[in-house]
Amino acid sequence: MTRIAIYPGSFDPPTRGHEDLIRRSLLLADRLIVAVAVNVSKQPLFGVEERLAMLRTAVGPDPRIEFVSFEGLLADFARRLGASVVVRGLRAVSDFEYEFQMALMNRQLHPSLETVFLVPALDLTYLSSSLVREVARFGGDVSALVHPAVAEALRARFAK
Ligand code: PNS
Repeated sequence: MTRIAIYPGSFDPPTRGHEDLIRRSLLLADRLIVAVAVNVSKQPLFGVEERLAMLRTAVGPDPRIEFVSFEGLLADFARRLGASVVVRGLRAVSDFEYEFQMALMNRQLHPSLETVFLVPALDLTYLSSSLVREVARFGGDVSALVHPAVAEALRARFAK
């Protein structure tokens, strides 16, 4: 049986932390769907197609990985795909409460969907898309935090 995992998120923009989690997720699944959420309440910096393109470039081709966008509930999307696992990253205690609530709500909506938390590489635990956006917005160097294509996209966005 093919085990399908979903790694959902905003990926606004994708960071080295996301890339690390994608690689780790492949140890758990035969197919990994990296799913960019369209309808998150926050106003994203990058459009969904831009985020998908950055993810594809940053991760590179791998027949086990697909990059898709989704609207609506993650639980419904997982059901449609036949995915059995949701992967989320846990970086610090501060992530825990939100992640715990989300995992239990997703279980309520889709009881056989398991959420699995993965811990990123130690040197990436402080990293978040929102911090990367803030550093880039004020002209800081994000080259160690994101793929060069993402750094370039941030430069271009904030040069406007
Ligand atoms: O990268 P993020 O912003 O932490 O990702 C959050 C995301 C997109 C995974 C979450 O908001 C989500 O699953 N949104 C889809 C709508 C949904 O299912 N909401 C209920 C989850 S309890």
